[in-house]
Amino acid sequence: MKKLLEEAEKKGVAVGAFSVGNMEMVMGAVKAAEELETPIILQIAEVRLKSSPLELMGPMMLAAAENADVDIAVHLDHGLHVETVEQALDIGFTSVMLDGSLLPLEENIKTVKGVVETAKEYGATVEAELGVVGGNEGEGKSHEILCTNPDDAKRFCDETGVDALAVAIGNAHGNYPVLPELRFDMLEEIHKKVSTPLVLHGGTGISDEQFQRAISLGVRKINIATASFDNLAAYAKAYCDNKEKANYFELSACEVEGVYQNVKRHIKVFNME
Ligand code: 13P
Repeated sequence: MKKLLEEAEKKGVAVGAFSVGNMEMVMGAVKAAEELETPIILQIAEVRLKSSPLELMGPMMLAAAENADVDIAVHLDHGLHVETVEQALDIGFTSVMLDGSLLPLEENIKTVKGVVETAKEYGATVEAELGVVGGNEGEGKSHEILCTNPDDAKRFCDETGVDALAVAIGNAHGNYPVLPELRFDMLEEIHKKVSTPLVLHGGTGISDEQFQRAISLGVRKINIATASFDNLAAYAKAYCDNKEKANYFELSACEVEGVYQNVKRHIKVFNME
């Protein structure tokens, strides 16, 4: 993932990190990336592993990445336990996130530092979060947004040696009730103090203009989950609503299409088109 973020930095674009939960999601995302000849990140969050087990999803995501015509990083999103991070690294993930955002700063630094050491042995990239992104990833408790403090961000990056930093600037996971007001002033200050590539979580519902402004202020990875899950479900529902008897193979193709359309749309925006 580090290599993809460096390339994005040179081009002044961001890499889309698309969450997946089944084979159709993987296929739809890879199809869009190949068509647009753009590298992407395939990711799955720890909270999703209840419905999409890591030992099944992991090898499939890696196989899709290896067989793709474009570079694809395979990433564990929001790792909550060091054991899960290690399991993902053992399977072959090229990147992991340890989310210690709810821990006190010192503890977050200590935990992430440990993960950076471990990941080094695997040649893998590490992402961490500072401040608290709002909403929730999965069906857990919803978190209040706590914006990232730029001085803390500098200290955090210096002390942990992390490769990518997820920031909280008014963004939240899930669907926003109204267009969020992002703190671009805060993002600018973080970007001035920190040379580490920045990550924007909670991509669903952020406007194209906001995405591109964030990219111009150092965001190099953007996470999209809910929009893909929702589009898959909408395409599948529309298919079933119009059929007397649903056919599995047609339904599967609809799921691929729903994710493909959503990923394609976002890749174009992240490429600054
Ligand atoms: P959304 O579900 O809001 O797109 O957020 C995705 C995300 O940040 C995953 O970590």
